Amino acid sequence: MIRRIVTSAQEMEALGEALAPVLPGGSVLLLHGDLGAGKTTFVRGLGRGFGITSPVRSPTFAFIHHHDVPEGPVTELLHLDLYRVDDPREVDALCVGELMGDEVVAVVEWGELAGGRLDGVIGSLTIAAGDDTERTLTLDGPLAALVHDAGVWR
Ligand SMILES: Nc1ncnc2c1ncn2[C@@H]1O[C@H](COP(=O)(O)OP(=O)(O)OP(=O)(O)O)[C@@H](O)[C@H]1O
Ligand SMILES: [Mg+2]
Repeated sequence: MIRRIVTSAQEMEALGEALAPVLPGGSVLLLHGDLGAGKTTFVRGLGRGFGITSPVRSPTFAFIHHHDVPEGPVTELLHLDLYRVDDPREVDALCVGELMGDEVVAVVEWGELAGGRLDGVIGSLTIAAGDDTERTLTLDGPLAALVHDAGVWR
């Protein structure tokens, strides 16, 4: 488990950006946190780390956005937002398993609403809002060890 405190949206984006090279192809990262916690802000940074050029916006109505990654072992970033999922069985209908592959990374806002139905989950990032622009990030799962060993969040 890794815990980090950030005090600005810029710092949040920077942590997302630094995470990109550590996320292996085929992995799924779940994001937890209330409305406005900063999940999409984090994904925007992650997208920058992957060098994607398409704008990262909340896919709340589309459920899922595809972003091409221009170079590297990962070729596609899937950005999901499950906020509108009422029943975890709706997640099955998204067929995320068929969209995944060794060269695809998925990041999932409101990941807890998947009810454990997604394969390849490498970690969970929980964002808790504090006063003003302060946020506490808690990273759990195997990804925490990768981040620690790579030293990217130091
Ligand atoms: N430390 C911070 N980290 C992230 N965002 C911050 C921070 N401080 C302020 N903000 C602001 O909080 C807002 C976070 O919005 P964002 O869309 O990223 O949240 P979200 O968790 O994706 O919400 P939703 O559940 O509605 O999708 C942005 O306006 C951002 O600028
Ligand atoms: Mg969002």
